[in-house]
Amino acid sequence: MVKVLFVCLGNICRSPTAEGVFRAMVHREGLSDRITIDSAGTAAWHVGKSPDPRSMAAARARGIDMSAQRARQAVAGDFAHFDYVLAMDSENHADLLRLCPRGAEGKLSLFLDFAPHLGRRDVPDPYYGGPGGFDEVLDLVEAAAEGLLADIRQRHL
Ligand code: 4NP
Repeated sequence: MVKVLFVCLGNICRSPTAEGVFRAMVHREGLSDRITIDSAGTAAWHVGKSPDPRSMAAARARGIDMSAQRARQAVAGDFAHFDYVLAMDSENHADLLRLCPRGAEGKLSLFLDFAPHLGRRDVPDPYYGGPGGFDEVLDLVEAAAEGLLADIRQRHL
């Protein structure tokens, strides 16, 4: 099993979107029995909550159901369990580096680094912005999900 964890700040907008998009892609490709997917937040504010309704609506418009997902906080043990720990922005990346046990840093990446053609490294936080921010998150996440799946195929499958 290849294990993938997406991490943002609150685990109610960006990383649950990445989880939903990547799970749907993995299912479409017939790889659900080879790849497990989860998401978490660096902060504990929203633990146990469903994704933000704006994120769920934007994802639903693209055929992705995030309603069963619940927020949790990232823990140091995630670095033992997961093969990929993927930060949505550089602040999440810095927080995860502080959480990361020595020697496990190689598992940590910025998610958008799997889509270098985007020329961007951070998925912008849509929480305090307008509705267009949630569609932008989906566009960026879909692009990086393609690159991530290609990396997993090349290195693990
Ligand atoms: P996320 O967005 O990190 O993409 O889940 C946020 C959600 C909540 C807050 C900030 C960002 N907040 O401040 O509560």
